Amino acid sequence: MDTNGIMERLRTETRDLHDQAEQNQWQTRMVRGELTRDDYQRWLGQMLLGHRALEKELRALPLDQFPYTAIRSEHYQEPYLIADLEHFGVDPDTIEPLATTNALISRIEQLAQERPLALLGFHYVLEGSNNGNRFIAKRLREVYELEPGTGDRYLDPYGDRQREIWKRFKEDMGGDELSAEDQDLLVASAREMFQAIHDISNELEATSESGVTAAAQ
Ligand code: HEM
Repeated sequence: MDTNGIMERLRTETRDLHDQAEQNQWQTRMVRGELTRDDYQRWLGQMLLGHRALEKELRALPLDQFPYTAIRSEHYQEPYLIADLEHFGVDPDTIEPLATTNALISRIEQLAQERPLALLGFHYVLEGSNNGNRFIAKRLREVYELEPGTGDRYLDPYGDRQREIWKRFKEDMGGDELSAEDQDLLVASAREMFQAIHDISNELEATSESGVTAAAQ
């Protein structure tokens, strides 16, 4: 039995949005290895901008105080995204945000001022996504002929330590130590982050050359 209160709530109360993510057309095409290299790079670029904005604010939180102790420096993905983009010859400083990415960045900046705890809910979604991303990385290594650790690092940042790091994150979130009100805020903010990634995926799909071709078939 899972007695880890907040983590159980996050998992069950965002399940509909995880289902939505798995059915998202862009995500589906990514899992199947149908995105072109250009698509994949565009996705990495938008993830870089989102992670960069979030991680800048996370670093400014009181990380020695519960529940922010759940955020560990090894979770930060910005360096991996930069390395992946450079592997594909993309200059990380030249990436233009999509409208949906800009909306997410603004929201992160606003919450950092008004409700910083919500950023932990955002972090849960991205950290949790590593669980599924590992499997996507396997497929993409074949499609783009990647050496493990180069060009795929964001999708598989921890390798064999994935389960261990996720387990520790779940423990660090403290079960029922958080008040019901704080738990409600984490669930609401996690839902918001799932939706933001869905929106970014949809905008990437709508502006993808391979997406337009696929839609015309
Ligand atoms: C087709 C795309 C995806 C697949 C195949 C997939 C698959 C998975 C799998 C297999 C797990 C592990 C379940 C477990 O061990 O209990 C997982 C967990 C998770 N995924 Fe995904 N995922 C996908 C997309 C996403 C996206 C886009 C996000 C975020 C925006 C996301 C966020 C999460 C989170 C937060 C968890 C942890 C759930 C929890 O236990 O609290 N996933 N996913």
